Amino acid sequence: MRRLMVAGNWKMNGTRASVAELLKGLKSQEFSATVEVAIFPTFLHVNEAVEALQGTSVKVGAQNLATQSGPGALTGEVSASQLTDAGCTLVLIGHSERRQLLGEAESVLVEKFKAAQEAGLVPVLCVGETLAEREADQTFDVVGAQLDSIMDSLGVEVFSRAVIAYEPVWAIGTGLTATPEQAQDVHHAIRARLAARNAEVAQGVRLLYGGSVKAANAAELFRMPDIDGGLIGGASLNADEFGAICRAAGN
Ligand code: PGA
Repeated sequence: MRRLMVAGNWKMNGTRASVAELLKGLKSQEFSATVEVAIFPTFLHVNEAVEALQGTSVKVGAQNLATQSGPGALTGEVSASQLTDAGCTLVLIGHSERRQLLGEAESVLVEKFKAAQEAGLVPVLCVGETLAEREADQTFDVVGAQLDSIMDSLGVEVFSRAVIAYEPVWAIGTGLTATPEQAQDVHHAIRARLAARNAEVAQGVRLLYGGSVKAANAAELFRMPDIDGGLIGGASLNADEFGAICRAAGN
């Protein structure tokens, strides 16, 4: 049985005051032991989050990392080993905002994935198609190629220590959620893509859905057989809403 996971991607949001408030709200939530809960604050707020959530089961991850895992001359970057030192256990890789708006290439994502695992972080690899790609019937090809790029370079086995988040770009921050059936179809295809190389890894890997998940639609998505939880953007900035999504995963 795969343990469900609900993760909050805070993106470039939060001030010291609002983060303190949000962390306080998170600490007051009841989380089911059957669900793994994580949050991804900005680098600036990682320390505060790790400290505030000590003694709870909520894990803290980062939204990005450098392509090299150890220290070095790389102005403005943060390494995987610095993240583990700060108390992070997970890291997002390949979010569509970084792929599209910041031009992160597949080769860079491969290096980041490798650096994360070298330092003991669990990468959460984000994949997904744009609206134009979906309308051109290219969803499975696009998502398949994003997975292949990691597997061709690092091997399918790396996914035994990673999580995959399927996030259709057209559903991110738009209020347009994929239907549970649309999401399930892609999740099923992702698992099959991995299974073609290693069935055991494919069965074990957790596949999260992301894109306008909220408390009102979480349960029907999480009910699908290949959806193992969610990656939550906007709705994770509200502790009660995020708590409700986590509870939907626990039921
Ligand atoms: P959203 O973002 O929930 O605000 O659509 C999801 C994400 O980008 O991870």
